[in-house]
Amino acid sequence: MKAVVYTRYGPPSVLQLANVETPVPKDDEVLVKVHAVSLNASDWEVLRGKPLYARIGGPFRPRHRVLGSDIAGRVEATGRAATAFRPGEDVFADNLSRMGGFAEYACVPQSALVPLPAGMSYEQAAALPQAGAIALQGIRDKGLVRPGQKVLVNGAGGGSGHYAVQLAKLDGAEVTGVDNAEKLEFIRSVGADHVIDYTREDFTRAGRTYDLILDLAAHRPAWAYQGSLKPGGRYQYVGGSVATLLQILLVGPVIGRTKRKKIRLLAVRLGAQHVAPLAELCQAGKITTAIDRRYPLSQVPEALRYLGEGHAKGKVIVTFD
Ligand SMILES: NC(=O)c1ccc[n+]([C@@H]2O[C@H](COP(=O)([O-])OP(=O)(O)OC[C@H]3O[C@@H](n4cnc5c(N)ncnc54)[C@H](OP(=O)(O)O)[C@@H]3O)[C@@H](O)[C@H]2O)c1
Repeated sequence: MKAVVYTRYGPPSVLQLANVETPVPKDDEVLVKVHAVSLNASDWEVLRGKPLYARIGGPFRPRHRVLGSDIAGRVEATGRAATAFRPGEDVFADNLSRMGGFAEYACVPQSALVPLPAGMSYEQAAALPQAGAIALQGIRDKGLVRPGQKVLVNGAGGGSGHYAVQLAKLDGAEVTGVDNAEKLEFIRSVGADHVIDYTREDFTRAGRTYDLILDLAAHRPAWAYQGSLKPGGRYQYVGGSVATLLQILLVGPVIGRTKRKKIRLLAVRLGAQHVAPLAELCQAGKITTAIDRRYPLSQVPEALRYLGEGHAKGKVIVTFD
């Protein structure tokens, strides 16, 4: 089969389209013919081995030769113990533990697979798993945002961010989306009431406060955020710099206790099984998936570069004929 492979961390040019052996499913795995795979910031991070947490499981060399975790496709074959699925069924998955989506076929543990919802395309389903799980848990994990509450999404123009903005609006919040200037119009188009260009304004210094800050691109010292939270407010780190992550883990609880604010890491429970409520909202037409660009398998390096250089609005998808 054709696959996009790499053997060392680096820029997109380390990726190569190659003919490789079609993988054989283990007992509890399913072989899926991939029809669509969406790109995530995690693919970009694991491609380059940066930040450092992207090297977990592969400190010097990539753990997986083929990247791509969020796939949708059709079951081709099943392992002996993978009895929940049959060849011909349409499925989608977050295959983060195995990756392998930038290929014509991928092996997926049966437990990571979910049937494709009726009426949902492969592309829409491939967009959902990781970005959808982050948005759902980021906005709704501790109960619904109450109508009128103020929510800020930092990194609102990306995959997770554009779902998070829509979810917070659906729950009645007043939403501010932060990203670079190129994406502000897009963020408004998915429902944000206010937008901030992070290259021109630091939201932590603007004197405005929020009930919930969902941070997909955290790069400031942990204590910078508490001034932007209302009393009882919550800040959730999802992704960003390792320095900020360590500070959040070490001093976040202390800042929270003294100021009645919660500053914490959101450890997202990943997996297509966690996005069922979002998939239902998509099917009902209440949430839309913005697909910015589609690329063929041979152009995975270009697709990753487009995402990594910060141009993507919503999701970027690799599709197969
Ligand atoms: N905590 C967990 O359990 C967990 C699990 C999975 C993934 N993650 C992390 O979740 C993060 C978000 O994923 P995603 O798929 O939504 O990424 P994405 O699609 O790349 O979106 C991130 C957005 O943030 C923007 N951005 C970059 N720097 C910024 C800054 N300083 N201020 C404001 N916005 C900025 C990016 O735009 P530009 O780059 O163009 O400026 C981009 O629009 C990733 O870092 C990933 O590693 C965390």
